[in-house]
Amino acid sequence: MNLSIIGTGYVGLTTGACLAKVGHRVICVDNDQSKISLLKEGKIPIYEPKLEELVVEGMREGRLSFTTEIGEGVKKSEVCFIAVGTPPKETGEPDLSAVENVAREIGENMERYLVIVEKSTVPVKTGRWVKTTIERYNRRNIPFDVASNPEFLREGQAVDDFLYPDRIVIGCDSERAKEILLSVYEPIVNLSPKEKRPAVLITSLESAELIKHASNAFLAMKISFINAVACICELAGVDVKEVATGIGLDKRIGKDFLNAGIGYGGFCFPKDLDAFTKIAEELGYNFQLLKEVKRINDEMRERFVKKVKDLLWNLKDKKIGVLGLAFKPNTDDMRFAPAIDIINRLVKEGAVVKVYDPQAMENAKKVLPPVIYCSSPYEVCAGSESLLILTEWEEFRKLDLKKVKELLRLPIIIDGRNIFAPEEMKKLGFIYRGVGRGY
Ligand code: UGA
Repeated sequence: MNLSIIGTGYVGLTTGACLAKVGHRVICVDNDQSKISLLKEGKIPIYEPKLEELVVEGMREGRLSFTTEIGEGVKKSEVCFIAVGTPPKETGEPDLSAVENVAREIGENMERYLVIVEKSTVPVKTGRWVKTTIERYNRRNIPFDVASNPEFLREGQAVDDFLYPDRIVIGCDSERAKEILLSVYEPIVNLSPKEKRPAVLITSLESAELIKHASNAFLAMKISFINAVACICELAGVDVKEVATGIGLDKRIGKDFLNAGIGYGGFCFPKDLDAFTKIAEELGYNFQLLKEVKRINDEMRERFVKKVKDLLWNLKDKKIGVLGLAFKPNTDDMRFAPAIDIINRLVKEGAVVKVYDPQAMENAKKVLPPVIYCSSPYEVCAGSESLLILTEWEEFRKLDLKKVKELLRLPIIIDGRNIFAPEEMKKLGFIYRGVGRGY
């Protein structure tokens, strides 16, 4: 099938490359000329495992192409996915102007029946506005349908999440569009062995929109819940990891997203939570629960810095090493990373901060206060009066801890992601603090 994807961010580019991989002909559109030029050379503007290979393969096999012209994408395709950004405004509401602009251009450029699919995370009822906008600019009355097909992929494992999803949600009110979207996803459904095939859920347009916001809000709530439990664990002398294992064994709860730490960041949870809270308010519901989820998340960073102060006393002129800057491993994404807030607080107190991240340092330079960038974890350790772990990169789990201890000026590790076992760290002679690890 011929498809176009408008927007080549994480979601758009992964969608395009993966749909080309399973046999569709895909045109990816973006109004950023430099991004498109880079993509045409087979290079991707973000760090995302497996994605560049797929882009190169898709182009080589002639199924994936790039353009800056929406018109070109729309005219050549049967289905057009909107995957443009919906960044937060100061009020917490998402800025939907890019979605509106794209809808207008689609309306002006359509030449035959088209299914327009909302892939960006948007508030409930946005699909209706997309439909109205296209109707208004579609002067030739070309038939079309609008659907919502939210994306649940995670950064860092976007390709696998797209190709092997738990579920595919298609929200639309038209049989014709539904059948077309089912054929788009048929090769993805068949990619997994029978017993692992994704559930395909057909809903109304609005339900699909709400499913996306409610899913992210629920996951954020799970993280804040375990973080609140971690705070109690610290007061009661209990290890939150044991508690999380015990909770997670209940199938109704599940073991995922119960890792306590310095909280969630990234471009999805913080902004989607704000947006969902705002939509609820506009519809007349005070979603107090979500406000508390956010408060707990913010508090985890504050508590973490307090731990540093409790162990080091004054921070002025103290050398503090930081491992991990990205909001999570396997990404170079610094957007709303907890590290930004934590490092800002340390620098404000006068600490000299040395940092290392395997992928995110270039992006970090744009958002962090003045810090010393190092080329390895060991360079961070050298002479530092404590070591903080803010992202759980695999590389950090494999550190030579004896060497770390020798290099550190004081053997203090404060682990915001609970990657080490407290007992073993104690045996190695470290003063070790995790989050909720029973002290
Ligand atoms: C999230 C959702 O997981 C995806 O399903 C969704 O498609 C995506 O948002 C989106 O809306 O685009 P993502 O932001 O890439 O994906 O990352 P996650 O793996 O969900 O992690 C989010 C944050 O939660 C990270 O900062 C991570 O460190 C933190 N986290 C996660 C915890 O603190 N504890 C956990 O147990 C799990």
